[in-house]
Parts: sequence; structure tokens; C-alpha cells
Amino acid sequence: MEAVKTNHLTIKYYASQDYALRDVSLSVDEGTLNLITGPSSSGKTTLLYALSGVIPHCVDVESYEGSVEIKGKKVSETPFPELVSEIGILLQNPTSQIFGMTVEEDIVFGLENLCLDRREMDRILEETLELVGLREHRFDDPNSLSGGERQRTVIGSILAMNPKILFLDEPTSNLDPAGAREVLKTLYRLKGMGKTVILVERKIEHIAPFVDKIIAVDQGRIVFQGTPREFYSDPQRIASLGVNAPQVVLLAHRLKGMGVHLEGIPLTLEEFRELYLRRRGGRGVEGRRG
Ligand SMILES: Nc1ncnc2c1ncn2[C@@H]1O[C@H](COP(=O)(O)OP(=O)(O)OP(=O)(O)O)[C@@H](O)[C@H]1O
Ligand SMILES: [Mg+2]
Repeated sequence: MEAVKTNHLTIKYYASQDYALRDVSLSVDEGTLNLITGPSSSGKTTLLYALSGVIPHCVDVESYEGSVEIKGKKVSETPFPELVSEIGILLQNPTSQIFGMTVEEDIVFGLENLCLDRREMDRILEETLELVGLREHRFDDPNSLSGGERQRTVIGSILAMNPKILFLDEPTSNLDPAGAREVLKTLYRLKGMGKTVILVERKIEHIAPFVDKIIAVDQGRIVFQGTPREFYSDPQRIASLGVNAPQVVLLAHRLKGMGVHLEGIPLTLEEFRELYLRRRGGRGVEGRRG
């Protein structure tokens, strides 16, 4: 089933001459990991805001045409508190979402208004600490942690509220590769738990191989939606969007230019090896099975 869907969505901000989104129709399936990408100022954040209902409920816009549905409910006609019970949002500047003196305080922050008994709250806290891998930092000040750990603290505070759909705006952009990997691992785990994850990133080469769907935006229009393998099959698309591709994708395209055709686009080194061996008549996937 579709978790989120838009139909000919067009948005224009006040104080802006141009439309931020134009005629956007897309769908995101439940329990999948989705990546929105595109050049700077292409409309990624606007799209995330629109998908989550932040637009039009929290940000007023001059024009909002078409529709967004979350689990079949029209976002513009559903009160925001009702939407918030289904979704979690991580903004582009996450430090503004840290409130507590300790990781634990941050994670239980939202729960405290829900009148849960202490035992239930402890259970959620334990589960969330485990999920975001911060058990040993439970009593630490979030501001003393690494960027990746801080980011996972914010993600934990969102997850504690048990959202079905998570929207994250550039959750790894300020992190070192190790921190980014940890955040990505957490998101992958969430998908395994049946949650729907929609994240915006510009630097996608390490993330793309692990997502179910890539949605590319350019100048407010959707220019691609499909699997990472389809996305990377076209070198011109990679160049025109200015996104980075995994090294193995670039290598496969270079080989093709030299007349060496692989049977598909590899996304990982292991896949490249298999396809390359198969191409040379070596012991590829099938060969090894036999
Ligand atoms: N509140 C606003 N009022 C007017 N124009 C805005 C507003 N927010 C964004 N814009 C404009 O809308 C367009 C899309 O912006 P948006 O922030 O969605 O892009 P983005 O792809 O997320 O950019 P970035 O890569 O910098 O994060 C840009 O031209 C931007 O200047
Ligand atoms: Mg943005």
C-alpha cells in the first residue's frame, strides 16, 4: 500500500517569483526506504515539507494546487495534530531539535506529555536506545557527543513517539563517513521494522545502493523516480543532476565506453565482481552455483 502519494502538486511561496514545485506526482510504498535528491535549491526541502504536511499547515504558501495524501488522507484537509500521530520529522538543522541535558531526557521528551506510566516509558526508552545504538551514552550530554551520535539522539527522540513514516532532511550531510554510516544503518533497521523512511540527501553515492526508490527533483520538477539501478543506468542523468555515483557505477560506464559491456549496473563492489566475471565467462553467480 502507498504510505504517501502526491497528485499534480504545485507550490509557490510568497516572496518568490518562481514555483518551488511544479506538477509533482509521486508515490512512496509502505515499509520502504526512499531518497529524494537533486541540485541545490531544486525543491527537495519543499517537497519533504509538502509530503509531511508542514506545508500547508506550518508554512503558509501563496499557492498550493494538487494534493498530498498520507495513508489515503488528504494532508491539506487533515488537522496537523492528527498527521503528527503518524509521522516524525527531522529538520535540515537538527541541533535545534535537541532540548535535554542527557540523551535519555531527549528521547523521553515527547513521551512526557502522553501520560504513560513509568514502566511503559522505561520500556520505550530502552528499546529506542538500543535501536539508535546509544545505550552507553544514555546519561551523556548530547552536545558532548559526535555529530553522528547527536543525529541519532534526535532520531531517537522522534522514534520514541512510534511514527509510521519518517521524514528526514539531510540527516548525514554534516557527518563524517563513519557517522553517516551509523545513521544509515539505523534507517535501514527502521525499514526492517516496517516503517516508511523518506530522506533528502545531496551526497548520495554511499546511500543510493541501499534504498528502494530514488526521487530526483530539478527546478521543482520530478525528473526521475525509480530504483537506484535504473537511476544509475544513465550517465547523462548522473551528470545533469550533479550527483555522485558509486565508484563501481562510474567504472561500469567507463568500461562500456571502451566496448566492455556488463549485463547490468553494479551498485556494490561485490556486484561489480560478479558481473565482470560473468562477462568474461568466468565463474560468476551461476557458475558458482553449478
Ligand atoms: N520560505 C520560502 N519563501 C520563499 N522562497 C523559498 C522559501 N523556501 C524556499 N524557497 C525557494 O524555493 C526553492 C526551493 O527551495 P528548497 O529549500 O526546497 O530547495 P532545496 O533543494 O532543499 O535546497 P538545498 O539544497 O539548499 O537544501 C529555492 O529557490 C528557494 O530559494
Ligand atoms: Mg533543503
